[in-house]
Amino acid sequence: MKVLIHNSAELAQQAVADILSNRIAASPASVLGLATGGTMEAVYDRLILALSESGVPVEEVKTFNLDEYWGLAPDHPATYRSYMNSRLFGRAGFPVGRTFLPASDAADPVAESAAYEAKIRDAGGIDLQLLGIGQNGHIGFNEPTSSLASRTRLKTLTESTRMANQQYFDGQEATPKYAITMGIGTILDARDCLLLATGSNKADAVRKMIEGPLGAHCPASALQLHPKATVVLDAAAATDL
Ligand code: GLP
Repeated sequence: MKVLIHNSAELAQQAVADILSNRIAASPASVLGLATGGTMEAVYDRLILALSESGVPVEEVKTFNLDEYWGLAPDHPATYRSYMNSRLFGRAGFPVGRTFLPASDAADPVAESAAYEAKIRDAGGIDLQLLGIGQNGHIGFNEPTSSLASRTRLKTLTESTRMANQQYFDGQEATPKYAITMGIGTILDARDCLLLATGSNKADAVRKMIEGPLGAHCPASALQLHPKATVVLDAAAATDL
């Protein structure tokens, strides 16, 4: 695991945006795994700028997001599809037909999960998977105790994750209870993994991911098994290392 620590959140976000834009410039038909959450908002702003400044084409890129809430209408403003369309795809000219997320309104989440795995396989697998980390060490929506070999499936969200995400909904009651997420095994199949964590509220999870024992109680610790995992941190997220 390569750990890169930057003095500020801005520098860490820029480093991640540069890695993504350089990857697309070098391989315009890259298959990218993408992530959502507050951490990625500034990364996508900076990525859009980097792509447009260097004239990097995105028409051939294919993207697969890590996860999506389940039980929401697709046009609900808090779906990850809405987030991605408004924060990245629409603004940077990614062809929407080459961008994939699990369907938030899937009638059969088991079939939807299997179909999502098949789409990733058919695309030739993920070249670079971008990741954030939850305060409890989750990646995607793989909550603590998720199997390290898990594949895309429906997961019940923990109360702490629902509390952390209620800011995007009309209170905790309105926050979804379920999500469809790539599994930890799915994530580990990506050829490169790139995790960004900023802020002191992530310091404990970051320490457990990097220095703690490998185990299901900190799903992000599974990245210790990955041959090409890069973790980008700001100084605040690195304080407990
Ligand atoms: C969310 C997402 C994760 C994200 C994490 C951290 O619930 N499912 O993919 O990495 O939690 O979110 P944030 O960046 O808002 O702290």
